[in-house]
Amino acid sequence: MRRPIIAGNWKMNKTIGESIELSTALKRVLFDEGSVDIVLCPPFTALSEVAETILDSNLALGAQNCFWEEKGAYTGEISPLMLKDLGCKYTIVGHSERRQYFGETNQLVNKKIKTLLKIGINPIMCIGENLEERESGKTFDIINNHIEGGLLDISSDELLKITIAYEPVWAIGTGRNATPEQAGEVHRFIRKKIEKLYNGESATLLRIQYGGSVTPENISDLIKDPDIDGALVGGASLKSDSFVKIVKAASNK
Ligand code: 13P
Repeated sequence: MRRPIIAGNWKMNKTIGESIELSTALKRVLFDEGSVDIVLCPPFTALSEVAETILDSNLALGAQNCFWEEKGAYTGEISPLMLKDLGCKYTIVGHSERRQYFGETNQLVNKKIKTLLKIGINPIMCIGENLEERESGKTFDIINNHIEGGLLDISSDELLKITIAYEPVWAIGTGRNATPEQAGEVHRFIRKKIEKLYNGESATLLRIQYGGSVTPENISDLIKDPDIDGALVGGASLKSDSFVKIVKAASNK
């Protein structure tokens, strides 16, 4: 009932030429993949070319970040309006790398989400605990905090436009993915939390992706979990064959 969603977060990788090469290869294989939402999130500098490459296919364009205002004197920033103009359907917000290196707080995440929704872009909101928090038993406190802060004053209708990406920081780029049991436990916790904050229907309809060292080898087990609706893929999204395998595995859900 929830359509799987696989997104590739290319992070700060790929020149324009490399981005065209990768998106062209992906489009060739995945252009008519009908049972999964597929999102490519190249760097800002390649959005325009990737948009052109994936035109008339089932691949959607996403950005990795945005500013929270539509326009103005904010040197160096990119607004949701500009992303919409480029053809972005999705934008990642609150990625742990942005929280860690750029001081992105729940409050900023919430402001970005509100502007994205106003402009008509679907936010992918990243949440997740770091290793120390997991080991000291604080995982669910962190998840509660990220959800309550990120979704402050978001209506149940707006919520349906949002995808939550559970990305435990200790699993990102480490080759140590959360097990399906570990991820499934947190995804169920998130769904329960949404049920409490909103209602049962919202909790049933909300898509929750897992992210953190997802590979063609581990996706099949992760996606089997009834509460895992897809993946936000970093390293394995940088090569067409591994990303294609991940998408194909999700299409069997
Ligand atoms: P990796 O798949 O490289 O661990 O990165 C995950 C991630 O941060 C996706 O946003």
